Amino acid sequence: MPANDYIIAPSILSANFSCLGDEVANVIASGADWIHFDVMDNHYVPNLTIGPLVCEAIRPCTEAPIDVHLMVKPVDRIIPDFVKAGANIITFHPEASEHVDRSLSLIRDAGCQAGLVFNPATPLDYMDYVMDKIDVILLMSVNPGFGGQKFIPGTLAKARAARAKLDAYEKESGRRIRLEIDGGVNTANIAEIARAGVDAFVAGSAVYSAGKAEDAHRYDSIIGALRSELAKA
Ligand code: DX5
Ligand code: ZN
Repeated sequence: MPANDYIIAPSILSANFSCLGDEVANVIASGADWIHFDVMDNHYVPNLTIGPLVCEAIRPCTEAPIDVHLMVKPVDRIIPDFVKAGANIITFHPEASEHVDRSLSLIRDAGCQAGLVFNPATPLDYMDYVMDKIDVILLMSVNPGFGGQKFIPGTLAKARAARAKLDAYEKESGRRIRLEIDGGVNTANIAEIARAGVDAFVAGSAVYSAGKAEDAHRYDSIIGALRSELAKA
């Protein structure tokens, strides 16, 4: 895949929240593609993060897509709030939704892109009968809830299996679904993950902890380093 077709989506979970607007604008100005926005509810996952108000607050800070990753249960009632707050992509965990097909339709009918998120042990079958309503598949390469965890190596085999399903679907429908990965991505493993068929990469701690060392919270070197690893894939 051409290197410029890869998406780098820094997770603001690891950003400095006291200047979140600047952190969002700077990471995009430094070469990132999407803003990954982790929503945790202290119920579906054991942590509590940010909601639609924060999404609305950062919306004017960038024109880049905001990729909302819902780690909440129930799913449906919060979707309209994120649509109103300016989300572009909304993904959710299928086992957290009572009616997966309906949740996907709610997102797409509101004009956003929709996707399913698979935990490390969640089988991929959830996608089988709803492919036509999916724009992105997000594979968790850590258990959801916290930034800064270690990449689970078994996710590579799962990525290859997901890529095969998405390629088969693209062949028959002509429509491409993105394969995104989330958790423990860094310069040491991103090329290998790309070789397993992934084309969108969430990176939280790898990006934001590197930027803290740089002047004025710029992220050019780390994003450049991730892209040069991708160019080798
Ligand atoms: C984990 C979140 C991730 C997390 C990634 O539940 O979904 O997006 O912030 O952080 P790193 O890249 O530090 O593993
Ligand atoms: Zn995430």
